[in-house]
Amino acid sequence: MVDVLLGLQWGDEGKGKIADFITPHYDIVARFQGGPNAGHSLEINGMKHVLNTIPSGIFHPNCINLIGSGVVIDPVKLKDEISKLYPLGVDVKKNLFLSKRAHLILPTHRLLDAASEQSKGKNKIGSTLRGISPSYQDKTGRSGIRVGDMNLATFKYKYDEVKQRHLSLLRFYGFDLTASNLQQLEDDWFAAIDYLRDYVQVDSEYYINEAMVSGMKILAEGAQGSMLDIDFGTYPFVTSSNTITAGACTGLGLAPRHINRVYGIFKAYCTRVGGGPFPSELIDETGELIRKKGHEFGATTGRPRRTGWIDLVALKYAIMLNGVTHVFITKSDVLSGFTEIKACDRYLSHGEILSGVPFELNDESLTPLYKSFKGWDKDLTTAKHECDLPLNFTEYISYLENELAVPVSIVSVGPDRDQTIIRKEFR
Ligand code: GDP
Ligand code: IMO
Ligand code: MG
Repeated sequence: MVDVLLGLQWGDEGKGKIADFITPHYDIVARFQGGPNAGHSLEINGMKHVLNTIPSGIFHPNCINLIGSGVVIDPVKLKDEISKLYPLGVDVKKNLFLSKRAHLILPTHRLLDAASEQSKGKNKIGSTLRGISPSYQDKTGRSGIRVGDMNLATFKYKYDEVKQRHLSLLRFYGFDLTASNLQQLEDDWFAAIDYLRDYVQVDSEYYINEAMVSGMKILAEGAQGSMLDIDFGTYPFVTSSNTITAGACTGLGLAPRHINRVYGIFKAYCTRVGGGPFPSELIDETGELIRKKGHEFGATTGRPRRTGWIDLVALKYAIMLNGVTHVFITKSDVLSGFTEIKACDRYLSHGEILSGVPFELNDESLTPLYKSFKGWDKDLTTAKHECDLPLNFTEYISYLENELAVPVSIVSVGPDRDQTIIRKEFR
């Protein structure tokens, strides 16, 4: 059986930290979708590491980390990421496997991402500009290039064919190519392809299914969050992959009946980077304070994250879509010191109370309705057990547990591995 760990909000819920924390229970951690748009931060003994494409089990020497077929890989970014790990003593060559079916992000995919965003003007998505959407478009358009293609004699020919098509699209956009030094980008890309030839490539669908049959324990690690899912998120302000549990099946070649536990992660409040609806957003000093206290700046792009109160309507929707069996709350320490904490439990739209996510969340007439809770002053970052937590906070957790109808199993009280409280058994 395979357990899945994923984000229930708009990304950056703390997936990297939690995946690293629970990895000792697993033999394989496998990323199933997304690409280097993800930024998963791990903190080990006060040292912070950000992973973009590599699964978050990489710091555990006995864990295989698989980049699954549903992921899109930028060879240049992956090479950079790998080379930062060797000085830390990580044996990447031994523990990192690449799916032959994972698609490659080409330099021109990144340019197309920029061109597409420019063309959208004020309606831009706020993409990470990592080439994610153009590479998934080529995948579904049946003209992408995959990791396994790099072993074929036709690789360069395929590359040139795709590049020529991209160049005509860029001309269509009126994109100024002169500023981008494409030749240099391509040289770096081919150098990175050569570098990656030394890494293990697998038929990941066989690898993962055979590993499962042999009794190995597997954790599927999601990227982004459920509200950024291409089908069920706040479309079009979403990413280009299925971020929900179903994505673990398609992105790894796993039959649905092999999915066991689904761990859903959410922050004690809520954030979003980029454009798109965010009903419980706080555009005031409280929002600013959350951003400051929570260091809410993107791990990938450094952009300030939008902040707001927790949105239970969206969370319940995400729990339903994912079949979540356990939830883990992160960043609760950030809320210490607030006199009042709020949770949006319904929306008001055109005089009607909504308890579900409507088709058009972007509707400006939609207002969040809140329940209010007493805050707490106590610093949570040194808490080790549930009994160390202040009563107002444990009451807030019980409320969430009751509303969401899923056990709150882990409460994270700081970025470090050690700042993690197991509240209820989750295995
Ligand atoms: P991910 O994309 O879901 O892995 O999340 P990110 O790494 O992008 O963002 C989460 C940020 O919060 C990172 O800087 C983490 O180090 C940090 N973090 C994770 N859990 C906690 C927590 O419980 N408390 C605090 N204060 N920070 C946390
Ligand atoms: P992790 O895995 C937060 C957002 C972007 C943008 C939209 C589309 O760290 O949680 P894309 O580059 O995918 O075309 O951008 O999705 N986005 C994320 N937001 N965390 C992420 O990943 C994200 N990956 C993409 O900001 O709004
Ligand atoms: Mg992140």
